Amino acid sequence: MPADSLLSRSVSRPLGEATLTLNAGLAHDPLTRAIAPNIAMSVNNAFTPGEGGFSADGVADLTSLPFLYAGWTNPTVRQLELRIAALEHTDDALATASGTAAAAAVFFSLLKAGDHLILSDVCYAGIHELARKMLPDFGVEVSTVNLSRMDDVVAAIRPNTRLIHAESPCNPLLRLTDLTALGAITRARGILLAVDSTFATPVATCPIDLGADLVIHSLTKFMNGHGDAMGGCVAGPKALVERIRSRAGVYLGATLSAQNAWLIMRGLDTLVVRMRAMSASAHTVATYLQAHPAVSGVIYPGLESHPQHALACAQMRLAGALITFQVRNPDAVAMRLAQASSTFDYAFSIGHQRSLAVFLKTQDLLNSSFELSPEQLADYRRYAGDGVFRLSIGLEDPQDLIHDLEQALSA
Ligand SMILES: Cc1ncc(COP(=O)(O)O)c(C=O)c1O
Repeated sequence: MPADSLLSRSVSRPLGEATLTLNAGLAHDPLTRAIAPNIAMSVNNAFTPGEGGFSADGVADLTSLPFLYAGWTNPTVRQLELRIAALEHTDDALATASGTAAAAAVFFSLLKAGDHLILSDVCYAGIHELARKMLPDFGVEVSTVNLSRMDDVVAAIRPNTRLIHAESPCNPLLRLTDLTALGAITRARGILLAVDSTFATPVATCPIDLGADLVIHSLTKFMNGHGDAMGGCVAGPKALVERIRSRAGVYLGATLSAQNAWLIMRGLDTLVVRMRAMSASAHTVATYLQAHPAVSGVIYPGLESHPQHALACAQMRLAGALITFQVRNPDAVAMRLAQASSTFDYAFSIGHQRSLAVFLKTQDLLNSSFELSPEQLADYRRYAGDGVFRLSIGLEDPQDLIHDLEQALSA
């Protein structure tokens, strides 16, 4: 029996996002009728000679083959992949060991020597460095562009531009890219558009509906949501995902483990309610920060003061759980948040059920990660000045978060 039909319930009508988040890709175990997904540990699954087949370029068709080898996918991982594909309004997904592995899978599967990649000038530092430091060694040209400026995008396109990698909202600025405008540019020129939607999640934005070809997530963040499993994924049309799976899943060993797939599915069960609650709390906290005399700037897509608030309203169904803000004495505030807060953990990462805070010094990011032109640097400083606190708001009562921020801000 084909792998996908072993897993999916048949559904005769379109489902709402909360229902999809719980149920897409999930069926009772055919043998035991277990409701919760099993963790399938077997690396191999038996098959009959001649069963199923590979396409001419060696790609296994998961809709006509049973499971073979966990390097392609496995029954638990496949349930996660099908659920993510449904949430992102597309056909297929590949789950990977981390979000960075998902971006590496896209770059190394779709680009070849002589191709040109355009990358957001500001995005998750690990992926920025992967593109700028590794891809040129393999003959791929890389340019970094402020993807909130469509004129700059058009000017940067070369005859050999094959892929644009965007991130919206971007880490750490919370600057947005107009995905509809960018999608129109890429489609008209036959360029692929991959969007890292880790900060938005499908609860806020479905990039494929707006014109992206591929959506990338760090599942380590909001999608799992509990800070206890790393994972990543790339979702998109079947042919593209099959190409990425056959190259990165198998040759680069990007595959996700069954245990982590199970944890991430359990986290996904509550994604919609978590995102709604955290986004509402983030709005309350951002509004408090904006009115605080010690705070010199707040960036939150849900505030009217965000430079792209209109775009946020058009493109994001909710404004998300991340806030950045600036203060005049960041070292003292960082120390108090790290040592005296009973709610915030002072740590990198985002998207957990518990709130996280960290100070990101602009000069440190410039030294280690981002190489910005004078115009790009001016834009960076417009959002972040000399540095920003990045808050990832969790599920605590917002008044407790505000209490701890008040203590940290007003000593
Ligand atoms: C937007 C974004 N994409 C990708 C990643 C990488 O994810 P992972 O840590 O799962 O490799 C991160 C990590 O912070 C991120 O913020």
